[in-house]
Amino acid sequence: MQLIISSSKEKLADEFSHQFQELTESQENVHVALSGGSTPKVVFDYLAENFTEKIDWSKVFFYWGDERCVPPTNLESNYKMTLDHLLSKITIPAENIFRVQGENDPIEEAIRYGNVLDQHLPKANKIPQFDLVILGLGDDGHTASIFPDSIQLWDSSHNCEVATHPDSGQKRVTITGKLINNAKRITFLVTGKNKSEKVREIVKEEGDFRSYPASLVNPATADLIWFLDQEAASELTSD
Ligand code: 6PG
Repeated sequence: MQLIISSSKEKLADEFSHQFQELTESQENVHVALSGGSTPKVVFDYLAENFTEKIDWSKVFFYWGDERCVPPTNLESNYKMTLDHLLSKITIPAENIFRVQGENDPIEEAIRYGNVLDQHLPKANKIPQFDLVILGLGDDGHTASIFPDSIQLWDSSHNCEVATHPDSGQKRVTITGKLINNAKRITFLVTGKNKSEKVREIVKEEGDFRSYPASLVNPATADLIWFLDQEAASELTSD
């Protein structure tokens, strides 16, 4: 596990963007699972502002690690957020974008999207393998859309499952621990003081960390990088 602590969200975005650029230069095709949330939004804006010409986006294939079961035009849609903040500002072939169809029936879409991942991703250990999975961390310790009250979804034998947001009841399609921990590299993008306690508990394996789905993230390759701003890392660095 590597921690990269930046003094601001913009510096975090810059650190991540340069690493992402290096990844795209290091291999032919790069299959990436994206996350929703506020920190990825900052990173997408930074990539759109500074890396449109520095990255050959035709080598990048975008998927989603989780998606809200809403139409792609809905403000809640992770796809819409990515389209508005990144995809509409870079030159990337439409066939490189594999959207979760949030407008579909959730159960049918979880099956369909799981098949999409089987068809388009390389395999390792006979399991679809992302080159990079980007994750956020919820205030409750969730990641992707696996929430503490349904942490058992992590161990599903399926590529994707239908999750339910514990507060809103909103249905989500999420990839499962089987795919997350099979990725070549996993990066958490976490900012804000409100995440500092969970970050400490998970990174230091303290308190109720075992009840947080994010604590189950442990890629077989051991290539796990936490991109944190100083606020989110404040309980790590206070010792
Ligand atoms: C989503 C995200 C979710 C997010 C966390 C953190 O669809 O909402 O995939 O897992 O990463 O909730 O979100 P913030 O960074 O906005 O706190």
